[in-house]
Amino acid sequence: MDQNELKKQVAKAALEYVEVGTIVGVGTGSTANYFIDALADIKGKLEGTVASSVASADRLRGHGIPVMDLNAAGELSIYVDGADESTKHLHLIKGGGGALTREKIVAGAAKKFICIADESKLVDVLGAFPLPIEVIPMARSFVAREMTKRGGTPVLRENFTTDNGNLILDIHNLKIMDPVSLEHELNDIPGIVTVGIFAIRPADVLLLGTKDGVKTLT
Ligand code: A5P
Repeated sequence: MDQNELKKQVAKAALEYVEVGTIVGVGTGSTANYFIDALADIKGKLEGTVASSVASADRLRGHGIPVMDLNAAGELSIYVDGADESTKHLHLIKGGGGALTREKIVAGAAKKFICIADESKLVDVLGAFPLPIEVIPMARSFVAREMTKRGGTPVLRENFTTDNGNLILDIHNLKIMDPVSLEHELNDIPGIVTVGIFAIRPADVLLLGTKDGVKTLT
């Protein structure tokens, strides 16, 4: 089974967590896209969805699935999204697609965060995948210097602007031994909008697509 088949498999497995008549938060990326496609089969059972990016909202609407504004939706039953890395403690790195800010907001507004990923995303220590950080444009160099002081190598994501009009710095060479503390620490740096560590609010369930079927970690 190739990586795309594994992603498709976990995306379908996430349908089990969808509660009839509720509003579902929907993530961004290739795995989340498979979830959106799977959701189309049960769209009549949903009150609606809230998307974590313009791209996901467009894909949902393309399937005829209603997309709501988070302010109108209130609390969501679940949030389903992929990840770039996850530990067995369900601490994540996200933001490879640049949608981390809205992803963190929608995840925060959901009762349960179901992370869907193929087995290549499971790691012992976060950081081999460069950590995405969304920054206000005028803070770019300042934040880059702050990350260099912390042992990282910041690289500006070229020709990329987030849905919120900001920039992404991808921080290479970090070994994130304590994701909760680092997330707190980086949240305090002025000019950082969102850090791609999802550890203060980790996933509640990780569905991992493997050659031997879907494994569930909680
Ligand atoms: C989007 O900004 C990311 O957080 C994605 O959830 C993450 O990059 C996983 O993407 P794939 O499902 O495409 O691997």
